[in-house]
Amino acid sequence: MARHLITSAIPYINGIKHLGNLIGSQLPADLFARYQRARGNDVLFLCATDEHGTPAELAAAKAGKPVADYCAEMHKVQADIARRFRLSFDHFGRSSSPQNHALTQHFAGRLAENDLISEVSERQVYSIADGRFLPDRYIEGTCPNCGYDKARGDQCENCTKQLEPTDLIDPRSAVSGATDLEVRETRHLYLRQSALKDALNDWIDSKTDWPVLTTSIAKKWLHDGDGLRDRGITRDLDWGIPVRKGTEDWPGMEGKVFYVWFDAPIEYIACAAEWAEANGLTEADWQSWWRTDKGAEDVRYTQFMGKDNVPFHTLSFPATIIGSGEPWKLVDHLKSFNYLTYDGGQFSTSQGRGIFMDQALELLPADYWRWWLLSHAPENSDAEFTWDNFQASVNKDLADVLGNFVSRITKFCRSKFGEAVPSGGQTGAEEAAVVADLSERLDRYARFMEAMEVRKAAQELRAIWVTGNEYLQSVAPWTGIKSDPDQAAMQTRFALNLAHLFAVISAPFVPDASAKILTSLNVLEPIWPADLQEFLYTLGPDHPFTVPDVLFAKITDTQVEEWQARFSGGQSRKGAEGEAEALS
Ligand code: MF3
Ligand code: ZN
Repeated sequence: MARHLITSAIPYINGIKHLGNLIGSQLPADLFARYQRARGNDVLFLCATDEHGTPAELAAAKAGKPVADYCAEMHKVQADIARRFRLSFDHFGRSSSPQNHALTQHFAGRLAENDLISEVSERQVYSIADGRFLPDRYIEGTCPNCGYDKARGDQCENCTKQLEPTDLIDPRSAVSGATDLEVRETRHLYLRQSALKDALNDWIDSKTDWPVLTTSIAKKWLHDGDGLRDRGITRDLDWGIPVRKGTEDWPGMEGKVFYVWFDAPIEYIACAAEWAEANGLTEADWQSWWRTDKGAEDVRYTQFMGKDNVPFHTLSFPATIIGSGEPWKLVDHLKSFNYLTYDGGQFSTSQGRGIFMDQALELLPADYWRWWLLSHAPENSDAEFTWDNFQASVNKDLADVLGNFVSRITKFCRSKFGEAVPSGGQTGAEEAAVVADLSERLDRYARFMEAMEVRKAAQELRAIWVTGNEYLQSVAPWTGIKSDPDQAAMQTRFALNLAHLFAVISAPFVPDASAKILTSLNVLEPIWPADLQEFLYTLGPDHPFTVPDVLFAKITDTQVEEWQARFSGGQSRKGAEGEAEALS
């Protein structure tokens, strides 16, 4: 039995994510986790909310709530939506957990002991009225370039000019509007990533099986320009993980917190500790997934993320781990995605453009979205969501092929033989040909799933469903039953076993439909087909079943028109704070 540690990039806490976010990390990670579990492997699948930094603070301020309360609420909201999308996390943690506090402080302490931390003095804007330093985007004023009066300290939204806070005319605090600002000295910790350049380079060179998208991004940051600059890992904010050296105070760092991108990936580890605590397990249990000196040497660790996250996962987080000098696991395989666009443009939170996870589930059940998103995953290039394409894919693949097959054969059997698998007849050449074809396809499907080739796996799965439909169409037991009822019984039995096969192997993509089919076929414990020939005899004569309800309803043209109009944008989402990638 193989052991798979699987993590998805942890979504920012500030608002509900859109479908582009979903297909960029959580959903493919879930596909892989479900597949590995179905193959009988041991899986620990972790995700969490990313709760620190200015995006969280700003969103809470906008919602008029203390940031801790806001995060607790939004965590519940995101956890609920994840559950409804059938994201099968073993634990959905929080980067603000006590476990992450302790581990983040631990790593900082280790890095300091290994002489990989330096202290740097900087000049930053301080608001006397607010009693705090203001990050760039917390400062507003008039743009020196175009005169726009709501320019931010990092950039003018109107003319796009990059700014320094000190460039602004009549600067004021975006928190309170206060104008009594001054520049003060402040000290910050820097992680000396440059000292780890060779170690990182050797490690990346050893990853010969990584996708090109991943290695090229990593190498670019490693060698071109200043990608591996020493990195500030502390901030003058209230909300975050207090700067400590392990369990000790860090003189000069009082009142400061770690930078969100320093603590967020450490949550991958902390989340395992949260998982253990939530399930009454021990430190040894979670460390057996994460520490190669504690049993994790046979664990294969796979991370899923959007391409913008790649530098943080190939350089920054590995720098933290390698720099600690402790035997924590490094990622084995990193699967990254391009972007999903919406109807010719970007998904936009601030403009309410595109579909958000909660809205999607108001329209249709999770399986419909899962299938479209996964079968169109932006793997080798960006992918575009259009309503027409979505409609065609749901109607053709799910309703006409998978749904139709299962409904047709169960209904036919019920009407001619009753609600139990019929006996009689012997499989012949046509069935043997189907078995041979499906065996090959099933092997390919498994190889694509193993390699996380999401689109190709979906194509192969669809081809498997099509093979079932073609078989049924060609043998047509509804015609043959008059002349040779035994033969028709055998064909019906064979097709019911195909329905069983489809249910088992489709579960990672469409878990709800799969469960429905298995329930109606009275299969309590689905087992992945080891030997297909044998598997297709699992449901023997007299095995009872029932006809399932409609598995997939077709999407009508009227629905498409209505949804197209509704999601075209122009309305900002309530409680959604801009796409704040805010790294400050
Ligand atoms: N919250 C980040 C994003 O949505 C991802 C953080 S991934 C982690 O882009 F590694 F930092 F955890
Ligand atoms: Zn401007």
